[in-house]
Amino acid sequence: MRTRKTDILILGSGGAGLLAALAAHDRAPELDILVAVKGLFGKSGCTRMVQGGYNVALSPGDSAGSHFLDTLEGGAWINDQELAWTLVSRAPDCVRRLETVCGCFFDRNPDGTIHQKAFAGQSFDRTVHKGDLTGIEITNRVSEQLARRGVPVLEEHRAVALLPARGGEKRVAGALLLDIRTGEFLAVNAKCTLLATGGGPTLYRISACAQELSTDGMTIAWEAGAEFCDMEMVQFHPTGILTGEGLQITGTLLEEGLRGAGGHLKNALGERYMARYDAGRMERSTRDVVARAGYTEILEGRGTGRGGVFIDVSHLGREFVWKNFKGMAERCRDLGYDLAGGPVEVTPTAHYMMGGVKIDPACRTGLPGLFAAGEDSGGTHGANRLGGNGVANSTVFGEIAGEAMAAEAAGAPLLPFDPGAARRAEEAALSALGGEGSPYPIRAALKDLMWEKVGLRRTGARLQEAIGEVEALRERAARTRAGGGKAYNLAWQHVLDVRNQLAAAELIARSALERDESRGSHFRDDAPHPRPEGLYNIFMRKEGESFRMERRPVRFTRLRPEAARPAPVSSTVD
Ligand code: FUM
Repeated sequence: MRTRKTDILILGSGGAGLLAALAAHDRAPELDILVAVKGLFGKSGCTRMVQGGYNVALSPGDSAGSHFLDTLEGGAWINDQELAWTLVSRAPDCVRRLETVCGCFFDRNPDGTIHQKAFAGQSFDRTVHKGDLTGIEITNRVSEQLARRGVPVLEEHRAVALLPARGGEKRVAGALLLDIRTGEFLAVNAKCTLLATGGGPTLYRISACAQELSTDGMTIAWEAGAEFCDMEMVQFHPTGILTGEGLQITGTLLEEGLRGAGGHLKNALGERYMARYDAGRMERSTRDVVARAGYTEILEGRGTGRGGVFIDVSHLGREFVWKNFKGMAERCRDLGYDLAGGPVEVTPTAHYMMGGVKIDPACRTGLPGLFAAGEDSGGTHGANRLGGNGVANSTVFGEIAGEAMAAEAAGAPLLPFDPGAARRAEEAALSALGGEGSPYPIRAALKDLMWEKVGLRRTGARLQEAIGEVEALRERAARTRAGGGKAYNLAWQHVLDVRNQLAAAELIARSALERDESRGSHFRDDAPHPRPEGLYNIFMRKEGESFRMERRPVRFTRLRPEAARPAPVSSTVD
């Protein structure tokens, strides 16, 4: 096994990983930073896929306080308020730095100020964007800055384990990487390690996120003993595009700006069905409500023959749609739809994990030496993330993690890692190779069971069944060994992926069973309302071969739920 030393190891190169590398380098250019990414640098991860944009209070009529309250209301009051406040209060400077340091150029108003568009669940139009291809702008510009600074990147290197320090010191001392191209292992010894691999609910039948994501960061953190929070909270986006049977593109997003601009959601009967679910906010209700509404229409027989509903923006006018939503209009055209001319068939799609590794506002996990940012971390968004708070989250906390790691690495010694742990992790990864097995039936079964039993509408009985089925699949996956050699063996990689996805699936299902109420994106048909005593977070941690689960009351460190504003009672959209 090869080894390499660095001060800071960053796992992932989406928004969180990129901003962490940039911030760490700019704060302490003398430090060695190494970025490892499962896919290609600047071309993989979810940030690149962001169409809509970045929530930030910039306008004189808006404020961080208002953004904060929207975020807590959207999150059904179980957010970690210190993380949510960090997000909204740091976002303005972060957006300015994206422009002034990185060269991003967001859309402008005629007076030269940054244009901000409407997204759902917000009391102010505060979503900064670059047309409807915002993520590409951010990813490309920040990647260029890292290339300019010569920060080294290992592409197609996945992390298979975190490495503890040798000699019983309670510290993470790097990670074991697997070079997907050659199949060789590389143990990276680091003072500080950042999880920024991006979560990714690809374990559902229909999902919107980058398909190379397989909850790798979460799984290795779980194995290392990190604490997790609120894993039951999985976001479904209401408008994933629906294409032909089995096509991978099904589930990719038509973003929220369409609803923000006045788009209509209709069922197969032509009804604007949101009137049944949130007559006050209609299509601009939060994603949890809108996604569940579409799913319910489909379940109750008012969906399309293919299991969808429609989004219709044709009344906004062809010129408006092509000017403001060119990326989506082109994608629709490629798939045979005319976005500006009529309804497009859509489906709810698994989009984001609000739960994840518990962090403090400096992105520290409870494990010394290990930091987390972006979708690997949990707590900021509570029970439901607002559209536009995702890329804000990854960039703000990426920057913070970079700064915190630079400060820590500057003063810390490099502790050697435990070579026995590295060997065991290598053997575990190699146990997925050397047979005739296939990961694909297991992956398909997992996606189906998560969609049907741990999806948009859950019950205790279905969750119990799901846990049993996940356990059985885990045993099958543990015995599955892919055929072929080590170099660029995708079947081997997919066995490793599905093992990780199964680990995350179990956490989601167990946490969902524990929350015996409905709140935000977690909906139980057998307990369809929030309970007054439901203002708690669910924490989980591995203990030996078992785990510990604990409810802890939400800490209202800044605002209490009594601050909630009354919901609008009549439609504010046309
Ligand atoms: O693609 C998008 O615009 C997604 C935005 C979000 O989820 O925040």
